[in-house]
Amino acid sequence: MDDEKMKFCVDTNKNNSWYIGTNDYDSKMINKFETVMFQGNGYMGMRAAAEEKQLHEQRDMFVSGTFDAFPNEVTELPNLPDLMNMEIQIDRQNLSLKDGQVANYHKYLNMKNGELTRTFDWFINDKRISFKYRRFISMQNKHLFVSQVEITSVDDELNIAISSGIDGRQSNDESQHLMEGDKRLYEGQYIQMQAETQQSHIDFVFNVRHKLYIDEVLLGAKPYINMNRRQIFGNYDVDLQAGQTLTVIKYANVYTSIDQDVPKDTLAVDSVAALKRASLCNYNELLQKSERVWNKDIWQKNYVQIESEDEKPQVAINFARYQLATNTPNDPRMNIGAKGITGEGYKGHTFWDTEIFMLPYYIFTMPDVAKNLLTYRYLGLQGAHKKAQGNNYQGAQFPWEAADPTDGETAPLWGSADIVTGKPMKIWSGFIEQHVTSDIVIAIMDYLNATGDQDFAENMGYEIILDAAKFWSSRLEYDQERDVYEINDVIGPDEYKEHVDNNAFTNYTAQWCIQRAIKVYNLIKEENPELYLKLSNKLNLETTYEAWINQVNRIYIPQPNIEGIIPEDDQYLARKQLDVTKFQVNDQVSTIFKSYNLTQINEMQITKQADVLLLIYLFENMFDDDIKQSNWNYYEPKTTHDSSLSQSIHSILASDLGLADEAYKFYEMSCETDLGVHVGKAIRGLHMAACGGLWNMTVEGFGGVRMDNGKLRIEPHLPASWQSLKYQINWQGSVVRVGIADEKMIVQVIGDGIEFVSHGQEYQVPANAKIEIEVPVEETVMD
Ligand code: BGC
Repeated sequence: MDDEKMKFCVDTNKNNSWYIGTNDYDSKMINKFETVMFQGNGYMGMRAAAEEKQLHEQRDMFVSGTFDAFPNEVTELPNLPDLMNMEIQIDRQNLSLKDGQVANYHKYLNMKNGELTRTFDWFINDKRISFKYRRFISMQNKHLFVSQVEITSVDDELNIAISSGIDGRQSNDESQHLMEGDKRLYEGQYIQMQAETQQSHIDFVFNVRHKLYIDEVLLGAKPYINMNRRQIFGNYDVDLQAGQTLTVIKYANVYTSIDQDVPKDTLAVDSVAALKRASLCNYNELLQKSERVWNKDIWQKNYVQIESEDEKPQVAINFARYQLATNTPNDPRMNIGAKGITGEGYKGHTFWDTEIFMLPYYIFTMPDVAKNLLTYRYLGLQGAHKKAQGNNYQGAQFPWEAADPTDGETAPLWGSADIVTGKPMKIWSGFIEQHVTSDIVIAIMDYLNATGDQDFAENMGYEIILDAAKFWSSRLEYDQERDVYEINDVIGPDEYKEHVDNNAFTNYTAQWCIQRAIKVYNLIKEENPELYLKLSNKLNLETTYEAWINQVNRIYIPQPNIEGIIPEDDQYLARKQLDVTKFQVNDQVSTIFKSYNLTQINEMQITKQADVLLLIYLFENMFDDDIKQSNWNYYEPKTTHDSSLSQSIHSILASDLGLADEAYKFYEMSCETDLGVHVGKAIRGLHMAACGGLWNMTVEGFGGVRMDNGKLRIEPHLPASWQSLKYQINWQGSVVRVGIADEKMIVQVIGDGIEFVSHGQEYQVPANAKIEIEVPVEETVMD
């Protein structure tokens, strides 16, 4: 095993695994730190840019679900007016870390309560001034953002001028989504800016209020207001004696006309009143309220504890859970973007990343959140019908990229320039990457198996499954000569292969989807005639069912060849081979494009991310160990892992195959996706699927948790460098706590008794009891 420890861009702390921080202020890493120290609460999110403007910064703020389309572009989340700004002048000299001297710089995120802190001493004109900034987005009041700065004059008197407020001069790569509305001042101290998105007509209201204290004594000063186009600021001028501290608290809130917790006609007045109420509390009081919600609603539900010499695995899992919590909207009209709300990358759009990479975490730890995320797809049936009809198919064809659920496909048509032709490359995914429809069905089945949520099944789940299968039925192409149904001209999970026929992943999952639909059809026909009648009328089930029965066993399913290799698609195995080792480096992705363009890559046996291996991971019971191993041996060396969705699947599969070193290698690579030292496209945001993948590798891979034909299976593979692993999951409404150490596993249940399987043996844990079992030695990962 590679003894070299993981390298993170941030410092970590052996005694506090919730800490990530840096002492580096003059850094090329500025965008990286803004991204990894992101703050949010699912409703809104902000990159960790500094309060004062800095060169090369990217100060984004988004509110989930507020999509807007700029003319001739696809819909995206508008980058909203900046609320974190605060420009400070000391004796008329602008605070800028590029000027004067800086000492004791320290910026860190407390992932346990979401608080970002930045402290430093600034030396200017022979004066030393110390700064302490703190800020958080509240988990208790989703509209609220609070920041505080303490400025201490260490040994001289100072004049401090502050300009802080709402800065609407933000754009998405220069596309300005917001039309300016009223700008107002209430009671001499609450400043407000209203705005409206230009196409989707969503109203926004932003409010800010400041409170200033010298040595904890509140100053009565009202601001001098400065209004410009798209800007409204409060200006304050304060004289400070040596040794005194000026504290400025900035209270800010955001409301939109799509919020469901406030009436939209009175947003402007109600939001000011809300800010007034919030600002009765001081910074610490508001932080504590938020902290309580973090603990109760998040940390108590998804406990994972890793005991190891190296603190980084625990930091990584905390980071993953923190980012999932801050980026997941608590509203079924919205979903998690591939980049969450951490940057402009992928425009805030949702991909299959949610269903395959993030939902396992939510299904197992917070099933109510999983239900919201799946309800989004139910609301998306409208958009999915639109897409299917547009392509002359039937049923629900889910969009490759989704924004507002009713929109249908939102993937852009054109991407960056082809290095060879210089022309923009067409993005085919929105047209022919179709497996997302099956991925959604896979997630629904997993959710139903883990929760037994009959209500969701009857009101939404079954309908999605039936409608998705209806799409697949219409999508199949009959080949008379071979008497098979094929799926030609697609992109599978491996996006380096465009326009391929019979991608194994697509065909297997389409067939599986139709098989599920047949089961659902028979189940409701027999057991729930009322529901059957309703869905039968709505989806024209009788005719569709006949088609399914006729097609399902004649769908072409690529079989393993003589060497046991499942062909990724009809063309793959005949393509030219290339040694991709030099493109498998983790510190830079997509380096292959420096040597080849997509057309050339398309013609070679080069795979971007887990494809056949993903199929094997998801449908492990369909393949025996030899087939799994042969396909691992064949495909992994051909995979560049240029998508951050690749590593977690490889790690889990390697754990299953007993390839301990490989499992840990891919685990480490995945931990470094965002936390690693390579900057990559950090300016565009985080990799949310990799965050989901981190939990999956830890709990499914090393912790050994899996759903096996609807049953819970726990077969751990503890890495050699970990002394123990403890985690908590939900199963059928009970909380299950698992502890693994010293080749022993303790399974404790809080709630009704559960059953699980481990190495072929069935176990029962009675209600509110625990059992201890041996973990077979041969299954324990050895290095
Ligand atoms: C991957 C897709 C993924 C998308 C968004 C692409 O690079 O190939 O599988 O859905 O990124 O994360």
